[in-house]
Amino acid sequence: GRVIPVAAEDAQPERQQPSTLDECRRCELWKNATQGVGGQGARHAKIMVVGEQPGDQEDIAGLPFVGPAGQLLDRAIAQASVDRAKLYITNAVKHFKWEPRGKRRLHKTPAQREIDACHYWLEGELASVKPKVVVTLGGTALKAVLEDPKATLKDAMGEPFLHQDRWIVATYHPSYALRVPDHESREAAFNAIVVAFERARQLAG
Ligand code: URA
Repeated sequence: GRVIPVAAEDAQPERQQPSTLDECRRCELWKNATQGVGGQGARHAKIMVVGEQPGDQEDIAGLPFVGPAGQLLDRAIAQASVDRAKLYITNAVKHFKWEPRGKRRLHKTPAQREIDACHYWLEGELASVKPKVVVTLGGTALKAVLEDPKATLKDAMGEPFLHQDRWIVATYHPSYALRVPDHESREAAFNAIVVAFERARQLAG
């Protein structure tokens, strides 16, 4: 009889149920990364923090938010009187996406298909940690958590809102607060991140 071909794209997710990040071939980003970087922190944290993807230093260390963005995040968390050890911190995308720029590895924003592919891992983390509040840092994290490619920071920032029985607190990415050119806007971005963590702390109870 006739063999009805199955589209490769459809067959892939069925065949691939990677059990570790380093086995993951759901997208191509593993090829240029040192390792997959999973979440870190309290296994049943009330607050989960979602960033974009590991950066240069995270890719080497295998831990999220240990580089410059992580240092700014630490300052904001401390200023909001939140204990980092009580958080669960992860990223929307688990492998570092970059392109060479001289001797440096320049961060590239993940594509929507990479965010979608990696949602497999984020979903697993949400299911096991069961946070009451999710703080999204930047646009990529927001799109990933809401599973909405059209979600924008502009619309989501300000007031926390419920999504699938969880509070979402959307704020800037710490890298944004590092790279905005003028001092006042940098301060404003930093303060917005602090306020987001204060809101998260209140919502977590
Ligand atoms: N930026 C992110 O979004 N995540 C990290 O882990 C580090 C930098």
